[in-house]
Amino acid sequence: MRTETPVAVKLADYSPYPFEIEQVDLAFDLDPDATKVSATLKISRKPGGGTAALVLDGEALDLKSIHLDGRLLGPEDYALTEKALTLPDVPDAFELKTIVEISPAKNTALSGLYISGGRFCTQCESVGFRRITFYPDRPDVMSRFFVTLTADKAACPIMLSNGTPGDVQDAGNGRHTITWDDPHKKPSYLFALCAGDYDVYRDTFTTMSGREIALAVHVDKGDAPRAAWAMDSLKRSMKWDEDTYGREYDLGVFNIVAVRDFNFGAMENKGLNVFNSAYVLADEDSATDADFEAIESIVGHEYFHNWTGNRITCRDWFQLCLKEGLTVFRDQNFSADMRSRPVQRIKDVIRLRGRQFAEDAGPLAHPVRPDTYGSIDNLYTATVYEKGAEVIGMLRRIIGPEAYRKGMDLYFERHDGQAVTIEDFYACFADVTGRDFTQFRRWYSQAGTPQVTVAESWNADAGELTIQLSQSTPPTPGQKDKLPVPIPLELALLDGTGGTDAWTVVLDQPEMTLTRKATGARPLLSVNRDFSAPIRVERDLTRDQRIALVVAETDPFNQWDGVQTLVTEEILKLSEGSQAQPDDQLVDAVASAVRKAAGDPAFAALLTRLPEVGELFLERSPAEPVALHSARKRLQAALSRALSDTITTTLAAPSPTPYEPSAEQAGIRALRAAFITLLGASGAPDAGDTLLALYNAAPNMTERLAAMRALTALGTCQARDTALADFEQRWKHNAIVMDKWFAVQAGQGTAATVAELAAHPDFDLKNPNRVRSVAGVFASANLAAFHAPDGSGYKAVEDIILKADAANPALAARLLTAFEQWRRLEPKARAAAEATLKRLQNAKLSENSADIVSRALG
Ligand code: PHE
Ligand code: ZN
Repeated sequence: MRTETPVAVKLADYSPYPFEIEQVDLAFDLDPDATKVSATLKISRKPGGGTAALVLDGEALDLKSIHLDGRLLGPEDYALTEKALTLPDVPDAFELKTIVEISPAKNTALSGLYISGGRFCTQCESVGFRRITFYPDRPDVMSRFFVTLTADKAACPIMLSNGTPGDVQDAGNGRHTITWDDPHKKPSYLFALCAGDYDVYRDTFTTMSGREIALAVHVDKGDAPRAAWAMDSLKRSMKWDEDTYGREYDLGVFNIVAVRDFNFGAMENKGLNVFNSAYVLADEDSATDADFEAIESIVGHEYFHNWTGNRITCRDWFQLCLKEGLTVFRDQNFSADMRSRPVQRIKDVIRLRGRQFAEDAGPLAHPVRPDTYGSIDNLYTATVYEKGAEVIGMLRRIIGPEAYRKGMDLYFERHDGQAVTIEDFYACFADVTGRDFTQFRRWYSQAGTPQVTVAESWNADAGELTIQLSQSTPPTPGQKDKLPVPIPLELALLDGTGGTDAWTVVLDQPEMTLTRKATGARPLLSVNRDFSAPIRVERDLTRDQRIALVVAETDPFNQWDGVQTLVTEEILKLSEGSQAQPDDQLVDAVASAVRKAAGDPAFAALLTRLPEVGELFLERSPAEPVALHSARKRLQAALSRALSDTITTTLAAPSPTPYEPSAEQAGIRALRAAFITLLGASGAPDAGDTLLALYNAAPNMTERLAAMRALTALGTCQARDTALADFEQRWKHNAIVMDKWFAVQAGQGTAATVAELAAHPDFDLKNPNRVRSVAGVFASANLAAFHAPDGSGYKAVEDIILKADAANPALAARLLTAFEQWRRLEPKARAAAEATLKRLQNAKLSENSADIVSRALG
């Protein structure tokens, strides 16, 4: 049996909802097996709304009754399908009351109302609210929500929803009731409720106008101390949004709830942010610096949505980047302000290139604002988020920080309380700058990563450098021909002694020629400094020229990127022969860059990083992941040997104490962890013993995990087994830490490792974090094994996906995106991947998964 791929929704088909929902009263009688939901909607026809029927979305709801203005309706008064409830004939203003029954315990899709860790929680974005009650479940219908929750006192001492709580009342039969009133109009996707028994970590924040906000982070019993960092991050986020954007929090309470089973990172429900518990809980023993950093950034992200997403929301889901790209841009700047700006920029670019560039180069490529989609869950992509953020960054670069802030102020003022579009957003910037953003908006409608080619020639007599720039964007599915986009390029002439003549041009034509005067000898040209645009830069330079450029470079991003380019070229060359050895001069250049950066250990750590196979992949067609992986290992070994003295001295010094999650300390640990990784790659016969000693002595999770990962990379050996067994013994009661244990093995092993991990008693198909730590990590971070020419990697992942899909389509569909690069592969893996996708196409898959499979094959 074959599942039909979903019917495409088109941006061009948008039409406003013909009714206004003035108020919603929701009453929940919470019970894991049968929760009763009564919804009373105050509805009026919009002026000029004609005679349209009232259509409400609703899925998997057991309808008990409908009353219209108090009159019980019969089946002859409405039409009910699997997806909607239609009332053909309604007055201009009326009250509609529906009662439905739903089963949270049976909800494994984690969309709508479900149970996680024995507690009730909801996830409504994008279309989960329709699994709770009948409603126009679209973001442009904004309403006042009034919520009543009734539940068992013992099971649910705490009952939360959006807005402001009322008093708790006894409801008889061991039950109690609370009301929540949200004064801000909101779309249904921002509704949330959570109920259960939690430990609560509390604090307060005083806003810029002097209002005191009650803050609370709700976690599993016993976990409260591990919520301190999330709380600290929340308070810093609130302050940052006041300082940076002039935005104040707008309710008296702000709640965070940590949930074990969650499809994404977190969710910005009004006044009640729900988090994947992996992004709330952290302490010195159990969390790495990367975990602390991720928590800070996600807490910030969800909090910043209060203004960019909640107060002003999206007219329709095509505009998703309006809230996501902008909010990612905001959280990236928050992190940069909390830590090191250049280091943050490098990390953001690593993420963009690793995920978004790959997406843009394959069959799933789509514009930042697509004009059609099959399944809305599949629109939460790196392109919408990461490229969406880059576009905001380019806007800010082009108009400057002051105009950017003015435009944002106008946006908040003009559109507060509305559901708007990208056009509305840019109209604000057009109004404050007098500029026309028509061409700029091509960044939203054109998919694919633009490539900029740079050529230069030096006129010694005139002391002038001529720079020729040209741009082109490769074809992507459904978009063969591309138009030029405005590309802000930060350029500089470097004199080699630190002298920097920097300026910005906007390359908005297919080609452009610039000349720039220089005093003295021929300068070196630095291009796309700070990664000023999300493009690929093509330059015809020799290795010596590239090394000279790295040495002369004054922009930290480009210094790092110059090294990345050098090592990328070297790995690609090495991958052509299985025995080829790295070039000494290149290895020495990288090693000396690392040593020179010792004063900024976080930066030095990034310099030791070699591009992942997933990035190298994009440089080759056909790509041979196994050869790329082996070449990468050879270069890593050579780098390890070249740095061996530095590594030994660095690791002989003690790790900073007492432990703090600060950027300074994290930087020191990042370099120590990078050196532990390199040490493992050295090929030295005693590497296993050295790493096991480092594992045992590690005073924090960052270094302990680095040692365990390096040991795992050695392959089967006693030292590895000892470390893995010890780690499991120590952490078997902490699911978040155990995810790392699963991920480290999936990230290094073979298909057999995946099968073994999937058979482990603690592997849980219903827990997305656990499934991702095995199948997701294997398919996205262990490409040599995933793309094994015999197809074994695909089979291992296919088995998990098929089982996961039956329970949780959003999770399975996300795992399937790992197949997106299949057409680029060498012939054997390519044939195996195609056969797998065809098998999947004929399996009975969910709509979400069928959408990915059909586009991947497309
Ligand atoms: N809106 C969430 C965020 O980016 C992501 C999300 C989407 C979470 C859909 C759950 C479901 O912050
Ligand atoms: Zn978001």
